[in-house]
Amino acid sequence: MINSRVTELGYLGIGIRDVDAWRFYANEILGMEWVEDGGELSLRMDYWHHRILIQPDADDDVLFAGFRVAGPEEFLEMQQHLKECGIPFEVASPADAEKRCVLEFLRLKDPAGLPLEIFHGPLVDRHKPFRPGRGMHGKFVTGSNGLGHMIVRDAGVEDSYRFYSKVFGMRGNIEVRFDFGAGRREPIFMHCNERDHTVAFGAGPLPKRIHHMMVEVDNIDDVGLAYDQARRHNVPILFEPGRHANDNAFSFYMQTPSGWFCEYGYGVTRPNHQSEYNVVGDIWGHQLIANSYA
Ligand SMILES: [Fe+2]
Repeated sequence: MINSRVTELGYLGIGIRDVDAWRFYANEILGMEWVEDGGELSLRMDYWHHRILIQPDADDDVLFAGFRVAGPEEFLEMQQHLKECGIPFEVASPADAEKRCVLEFLRLKDPAGLPLEIFHGPLVDRHKPFRPGRGMHGKFVTGSNGLGHMIVRDAGVEDSYRFYSKVFGMRGNIEVRFDFGAGRREPIFMHCNERDHTVAFGAGPLPKRIHHMMVEVDNIDDVGLAYDQARRHNVPILFEPGRHANDNAFSFYMQTPSGWFCEYGYGVTRPNHQSEYNVVGDIWGHQLIANSYA
């Protein structure tokens, strides 16, 4: 068990410009469950009420990311810890928490300005089996390791490292060292559970708040199916299928209708509890096909 203050990336809130495009993408490409309930839009991946909350928004960007703590005691301890760290935060009203489908949450920002939430007590609808938007061979890997991982924008790697390690209690380090013509990149991968990483940063300048969200499936054929679906429906591919050298993920990267990317993968390993790095990045594949950021 990893001793971290936060336990998982529980949910994401995203602002989207094109609802029709996202409905198709979520259902047919990702295989998630598109839910429209009283005008509220969300995506399910498992028994949770939602893993992704959707709001129409012209910026087409991530609006917030929710990190879980275990329960009410930890939620109070986190508030005390934030005060000691000098991090401003606001505890949401009970009405806002109910709307978010959690027992309690608070709002804060990471050093790059990404709105974050810390919550406990998600609504888990065990009476409603997850119903994928299209057929799946298996299911999404979530459980106590959260919905996946995200690569976030940073305004300085050291500030982000200090925040995610000292404030959130995550652990991690440089796992890949790239040498570009223009200089060196050393992304830092942070973990808080048995998923190799939950947050990473140091990927260079990003036009959106995140570079990508990674979701994991438990059947390798679901990666193939998602890839086939992406190709069939002309979804721009960023990286062809390949296997990462750090988390061992067999995955590919494709663009979402909002411009940021989704990594769809299988076979993520546990975190390495002693730091190590490589200079390759991938065991094989992950050929860069297109980069809308270029
Ligand atoms: Fe990733």
